[in-house]
Amino acid sequence: MKTIKVKDYEEMSQKAAEYIIKKVRNNPKITLGLATGGTPVGTYRNLIEDHEKNGTSYKHVTTFNLDEYVGLPQENPQSYRSFMDNNLFNHIDINKTETHVPNGNKETLHTECKSYEKTLIDHGGVDLQVLGIGSNGHIGFNEPGTSFESKTHIVDLAPSTIEANSRFFESEQEVPTQAITMGIQTIMNSREILLIVSGENKRDALFQLLNGEEVTESFPASVLRNHPCVTIIADEAASANIKYGI
Ligand code: PGA
Repeated sequence: MKTIKVKDYEEMSQKAAEYIIKKVRNNPKITLGLATGGTPVGTYRNLIEDHEKNGTSYKHVTTFNLDEYVGLPQENPQSYRSFMDNNLFNHIDINKTETHVPNGNKETLHTECKSYEKTLIDHGGVDLQVLGIGSNGHIGFNEPGTSFESKTHIVDLAPSTIEANSRFFESEQEVPTQAITMGIQTIMNSREILLIVSGENKRDALFQLLNGEEVTESFPASVLRNHPCVTIIADEAASANIKYGI
């Protein structure tokens, strides 16, 4: 794993955006795996600014998002479809039909999971997956204990995840308790992974990822150590006390 240490959230966002822009410019037909949450907002803001200023085009880019809540209407501002539209897709020249987010409102959720996985595979897989990390080590919504063999599936969110995400809702009761997420294997099949990490509340998770002893399903992000091409951009608040060769 290659690690890049940066000063703060702003610099992380800038560096991550530069990384993505370079890939898009090198391969205008790239398939990006995208994440939601507080971490990538600044990265997306930088992508938009660059699109407006330098004209980087997303016309031929395809995207697959990691996850989506179950039972939240797509037009709800907290749905991940809304998040992506509002924070990125509405502001760049991407073809919306090529932006894929699991649909958590299908009656047959298992069929939706299978079809999401199949669409991704038929498309040739993800070239560059952008990832955040949960303070409990989750990637996507793959909570501790998720099988490393998992493909796109339905999950019950961990209490710590519901609590962490309640900041986006009026109350904790409003946070959905289930989600559809790409599985660990789905994520590991990406050709390349860019993990962005910011803030003191991610320090323990980053420490365990980089300095922890074992690769274990009880800490899902540890699987990334088995991936041949991972770049981590982490800020100072997240990296205090961590020993890594930067
Ligand atoms: P956050 O979430 O970016 O909102 O901190 C990251 C995650 O849970 O994967």
